[in-house]
Amino acid sequence: MCGIVAYVGEREALPILLAGLQRLEYRGYDSAGIALVPESTGGRAAPAEGEHRLLVRKRAGRLRGLRELVEQTVTQTPGVRYGTGIGHTRWATHGPPTDANAHPHTDCTGQIAVVHNGILENAVRLREELAARGHRFLSETDTEVVAHLLEEELAASGGQVTKKAWLAMLQKLEGSFAMAAVDARHPGRIWLARYSSPLIVAPGADGWLAASDIPALLPYTRKVFICGDREAVCLQRREANFFTFRGEPIQKVVHQIGWRAEQAEKRGYTDFMIKEIHEEPAIVERLSERYAPAGQVELPLMWPPSWWEQRRQGWLIASGTAAHAGWVAKRWLERIAGLPLEADVASEFRYRDPLFRPEDWALVISQSGETADTLAGLRYCRQHGVPTLALVNVVGSSIARETDQVVYTDAGPEIAVASTKAYTAQLVVLYLLASYVAKVRGRGQVSTEGLAALPRLPEQLADVLAREQELERVAQQLAEVEHVFYIGRGVDQALAAEGALKLKEISYIHAEAYAAGELKHGPLALIGRGTPVIAVLTEPNLVVKTLGNVQEVKARGAWVAAIGMEEYQSQARAAGVDTWFGLPELPRDLRPMLAATPLQLLAYHVARLRGSDVDRPRNLAKSVTVE
Ligand code: F6R
Repeated sequence: MCGIVAYVGEREALPILLAGLQRLEYRGYDSAGIALVPESTGGRAAPAEGEHRLLVRKRAGRLRGLRELVEQTVTQTPGVRYGTGIGHTRWATHGPPTDANAHPHTDCTGQIAVVHNGILENAVRLREELAARGHRFLSETDTEVVAHLLEEELAASGGQVTKKAWLAMLQKLEGSFAMAAVDARHPGRIWLARYSSPLIVAPGADGWLAASDIPALLPYTRKVFICGDREAVCLQRREANFFTFRGEPIQKVVHQIGWRAEQAEKRGYTDFMIKEIHEEPAIVERLSERYAPAGQVELPLMWPPSWWEQRRQGWLIASGTAAHAGWVAKRWLERIAGLPLEADVASEFRYRDPLFRPEDWALVISQSGETADTLAGLRYCRQHGVPTLALVNVVGSSIARETDQVVYTDAGPEIAVASTKAYTAQLVVLYLLASYVAKVRGRGQVSTEGLAALPRLPEQLADVLAREQELERVAQQLAEVEHVFYIGRGVDQALAAEGALKLKEISYIHAEAYAAGELKHGPLALIGRGTPVIAVLTEPNLVVKTLGNVQEVKARGAWVAAIGMEEYQSQARAAGVDTWFGLPELPRDLRPMLAATPLQLLAYHVARLRGSDVDRPRNLAKSVTVE
C-alpha cells in the first residue's frame, strides 16, 4: 500500500524524504515521488511572484529510479534551500504504475503538490466537474482532484493555501485518506489530513516530520502524535497545529514508541523475513515474561472474571495470517476454555449479517492494526454493541484506538510483507488468553501444563532455528515444483493453512491446504506420481488419522515431507513419509508455536532458491488498507 513522508525544518528535506521512503518500501509500491518547496536563504532574493516553482520528481518502479532521477536533475542553486517537502510511494489503485500516475500531483499552476494514501470515492464526479470548469488533468489518479480543488479555494484565501482553504477542500472529499500538501508560495508549511488511513506526526531532525508509518520516523524520534479520523494538521518548522475538520483546535497526547530504529534494519541478514523469523525466540521470551510472569497469566484485560464466565460465543475478525492465528485460537478457546469462537475471515464476516446474541464478544487480530476488512468488522461489532478485544502489533493503529480493549503483541516492527514473527507473537498471546479464560471459567487445570512449559519454548525455537539447513534441503526438493499440498487435522489444519499461505505468497508456487480428512472428498484426484505433500503432525489424538491420509497419498505416488513431534517419527516413517523434520517434546497446547517456525523457514528457503524478492512479493502490500 502507499506510503507518505513529509518534512519541514532547518535541514535539507530531500535526504530525509528519501531515507523515509526507503523505510516505507516494505509496504509494497510501484512508483515513488517527491515535491520540494524552494526558499531563499538570504544570499539571493526570494523567488519573485510568479516565479515560485515546486521541484517535483516522480518515477514508476523502484525507489532507485527516483534516486537516480533526483541525482540527475536536482542541482543546488546558491541561496536556495529546500527545507520543506513531501514524498510518496504509490501502490496503484486508480491507473497503472506510470511516471504520470506517481504522486505528488499538482494543480494547473504547478504551485500546489499533494500526496495521498487511500481511495477517494467521489473522485470521478469531482474530476468531471473540475474538468468542466477548465482544469487540466495529467494523471488517471483520484488524488489529482485534491490539488485542483485546493487551487479553486485559493481565490477565497488570499492566493495561498490557508487553514480555511484546506478545510473547505476536505469537506468535498468522500472516501479514505491520509494526505499531505505543500504550496510553492509558502515554504515552511505542510498541510495534512486524515480520514481512515494512518497518519503520524512527530518532532525531530530540527523540524517536524509526518509519515503514514512509524518505521519512517524511527531514526529521528520515538515520540509521536497519532492523528485521529477527521483531524488535520498544519506543520511548521517549530510547531504543529492540530485541528478538526470543523476547524476546532485539538490538544494531542504524545505516544512513546517502544520500537528502536535498528529493529527496522536488516542488521547483517540477507532479508527482513529471515531476520524476523530469527527474532521469534526472543519475542516469545519477552511476551511470556510480560504477560505470564511466574506462570500466571497477567494480560491487561479490563473485563472482570464474571464477564468472561457469562460469555457464550466469540467472533473472530482477522485476515490472512492473522486469521490463521485465530483458527488456532478457536481450538484453544473451545478445548481449553470451553468458549466457542466463530472463526471466519474478516472480508466475509463484515457482509454476512452475523446473528449476535447479548453475551457475544469479538476477537480482533491484526499485525498492522490497519487492515481495511478487519477494521470494518471491528466497527460493525461496535455498532451492534458487541464488545471487542483486539490483539495488535502496531501501537496507536486504527484498530488499537477503536477497539474496546487492546493487548499488544509486541513483536517489534515487521518489515517483510510475509508475516512471521507477528504470527508467532499472536499465537503466544492467544494461548495466554485461552488459558486465562479457562481459569476464570473454572477450567484452569486444563492449561497448567502448557503454562509451566512456556519458559522452555524460546530455547526450543532456537534449536529449531539452528537446524535451518535441514529445511533448506527439503526446500531443494520443492524448488522446481508447480503445486504443493499441505495437510493436517485440528490445529495442524490451521498450521497447514499458514504454511501454504507462506509458500504461495513468496515463492509463487501454487500451495493448497486441506483438512487431511477431506482429501478423499475431492482433492485426492490431484495427487499423482511425485506430487509434493507436506503433513503437519502435532495433534496427539489425530496423528494416527493424519498418517492414514498420508498412506492414501503415498499409495498414489505422492512425495511426503512431514513436520511433527519427534515421538511420531517411527509411525510416520512406517506410513511412508519420505522426509521428516522432528520437533522436541512439548505439551500439546504449545506445539503450534513451535511448528509454525519450520513451516516459515521452508517457505523462505524455497522462495530464495527460486530467486524471489522474499521481502517484497509481487502484487502484495504489507498493510492492506483498501477493501
Ligand atoms: C501474509 C500476511 C497477510 C496478513 C493480512 C492481515 O503473510 O501477512 O495475510 O496477515 O493481510 O494483516 P494484518 O495482520 O496487518 O491485519
